[in-house]
Amino acid sequence: MIFSRITGTGGYLPERVMTNAELEKVVDTSDEWIAARSGIRERRIAADDEFTCDLAEKAALRAIRSAGKTPADIDLIVGATSTPDEEFPSTACLLQERLGISGPPAFDVQAVCAGFLFAVDVVDKFIRTGSAKCALVIGAETFSRILDWTDRRTCVLFGDGAGAVILEADEEPGILSTHLHSDGRYKDLLCVPTGVSRNYERIQDGSAYVTMEGGEVFRWAVTAMSDIVKEALDANGMTHDQIDWLVPHQANIRIINAIGRRTGIPDEKVIVTVDRHGNTSAASVPLALDEGIRKGRIRPGQMVLIEGFGGGFTWGAAMIKM
Ligand code: ACO
Repeated sequence: MIFSRITGTGGYLPERVMTNAELEKVVDTSDEWIAARSGIRERRIAADDEFTCDLAEKAALRAIRSAGKTPADIDLIVGATSTPDEEFPSTACLLQERLGISGPPAFDVQAVCAGFLFAVDVVDKFIRTGSAKCALVIGAETFSRILDWTDRRTCVLFGDGAGAVILEADEEPGILSTHLHSDGRYKDLLCVPTGVSRNYERIQDGSAYVTMEGGEVFRWAVTAMSDIVKEALDANGMTHDQIDWLVPHQANIRIINAIGRRTGIPDEKVIVTVDRHGNTSAASVPLALDEGIRKGRIRPGQMVLIEGFGGGFTWGAAMIKM
């Protein structure tokens, strides 16, 4: 049997740090409010001439290097982003050109903050069916470009960044299971209600922004991300104490803490980056995973559960033996 296995990770954050104190000068807010309600202290913001693919390229090269590979070894690229450089080609294709690879399939998936989980699921299936052997999976975002910087309910929550993993075919797992869900009935609770086909004038006048019903999203995120932990545990005949690390989507420390309380996974087994990264959407899980590995917390052989939740709604998880 063929499994997919993570053999390398990489992350990249733009240099510019935006602190809560700086945001106090932009909107009517305070460091105390943002930290207490979300756990966020600072976030990174891409430079004006820095785009999603630039962040993705740096994270991808780090992941490729950490797997001991070269770009020529990559036979599949799947990107997750809601903030692509261009309407088309996909950011994965732009990245493919940067990496000097030509031929293998490259495409993006769109599941907002759960996008990385959807990408991992797709790639896992490519590898299990023998269609790919060494894949690059990236979550990359410049969410700062779709924020209304006059709306304190949203602009304080997000940041920019990119994370990447290399998934390789192996006889040993690897990824033990993946779990995906969507529910389009909730499409209006968290969205950018603008695209090239609808409300295009908002793109032209620069007002294509994230809108969010924060309280509703909060409640849904806690329920969905707690339930999917249980779904992943049940699917593998495991109990919560067999998890070494939970790597949840980094949207809000209160959401993360509530998941821990509901699932019985203690805080010391949860990787947290939201305080320094904010919510980097599809990049949040691979960035947190990479940080956990590079800091020597997540180690080979350990059991790691990654999970995400985003607009749509979309949510997903993957049980991984490192
Ligand atoms: N600074 C100061 N006050 C603020 C701010 C701010 N930045 N934002 C809102 N407030 C005010 C509100 O106006 C409100 O004031 P009022 O009572 O006078 O009307 C008060 O603070 C309380 O607002 P709530 O919205 O009730 O605050 P809440 O405790 O729910 O926290 C938050 C808001 C942080 C947005 C929370 O609801 C949340 O985190 N929701 C989930 C967000 C999330 O996870 N989004 C991403 C999902 S993933 C994706 O796909 C992008």
